[in-house]
Amino acid sequence: MPVPLFDTVSPVAPLRAEIDAAVAGVLDRGVYILGPEVEAFERELAAYLGVKHVVGVANGTDALTIALQALGVGPGDEVVVPSFTFYASAEAIPPTGATPVFCDVDPETMNITPATVRAALTPRTRAVIAVDLFGNPAPIPEIAALGVPVVEDAAQAAGARLGGRAAGALGTLATFSFFPSKNLGCFGDGGAIATDDDVLAEAARVLGFHGSRDKVTYERIGWNSRLDELQAAILRVLLPQLDEWAAGRRAAAAHYADAGLGELVALPVATAGAIPAWHLFVVRHERAAELETALGAAGIGARGYYRTPLHRQAALAPWVSADLSLPATDELARTHLAIPMNPLLDRAAADQATAAVRAALAA
Ligand SMILES: Cc1ncc(COP(=O)(O)O)c(C=O)c1O
Repeated sequence: MPVPLFDTVSPVAPLRAEIDAAVAGVLDRGVYILGPEVEAFERELAAYLGVKHVVGVANGTDALTIALQALGVGPGDEVVVPSFTFYASAEAIPPTGATPVFCDVDPETMNITPATVRAALTPRTRAVIAVDLFGNPAPIPEIAALGVPVVEDAAQAAGARLGGRAAGALGTLATFSFFPSKNLGCFGDGGAIATDDDVLAEAARVLGFHGSRDKVTYERIGWNSRLDELQAAILRVLLPQLDEWAAGRRAAAAHYADAGLGELVALPVATAGAIPAWHLFVVRHERAAELETALGAAGIGARGYYRTPLHRQAALAPWVSADLSLPATDELARTHLAIPMNPLLDRAAADQATAAVRAALAA
């Protein structure tokens, strides 16, 4: 039996009737943009996270740009961001007029640390984007203690926790993506910004609505970036499942450990004090590229997500100085490999994937 890299169908299958009813409710009402479903979802997600405000937006990339602009980031400012992350974490910075400054990560947690951020700080640093990579929260309280506002990119970390707080409640602002394969994924594009700060929440809301409060007068150049009613109605059905799904992801990680995978490859390491919600299960091995091909041939989903880190992407070259050195990032880019992960992944699937890794490395 093939084991897919991720599974967007099986976890939601038991919820089909509830989802159908939620979609029908929206169609019956005929309100598709900025209606009661978005309002209710924003309240419910805020309550889940333990923050005062959630603002729905169109996707996780817009969420980052809008969060930065809400903070006042603009031309002349620098924003520190890891190079070992999805492209959008950095892509979201230039539209604000600010400059991305790439920092390194810890080789084991694969996340930024106070030390890697400190090395990238300058007097022009206006914010840090802390990515909770692969569902493992970055050490945000310690990074915030450096004295720079932190925008938590929690796109991959819905359902994770750190030091008793939810991922998404750790930074000055946090951003989510509800892209379908995410831990909390809708059936299209969607995103959100979370914050405890009344002023930042209001700024984010105005920025996502053409820089307006009423579409009559316009205070600034903004964006047309909204979560829609259909996606919000679906997300309201899925949100109550998030903790159970996150627990399922941790159980899947435990199945891999019990199957002996750690004797073959380096397993992901949680940040101290974190309860991760493994979005992707990313192992490390010298022969990762070779393993990727062999696992694929054996029907086991495997992918190196960030083989070319951001500081080596052509589109970002204008913001990369020739002497930039990010050794842990370069090493991880070469050695990381995502293998199957989903909330329902059982011991049999973990055994099968582990056996395929063993066979590939023995070849
Ligand atoms: C770390 C990270 N940041 C930002 C994003 C952007 O989210 P979206 O695809 O919803 O724009 C993603 C996912 O796609 C992501 O993984």
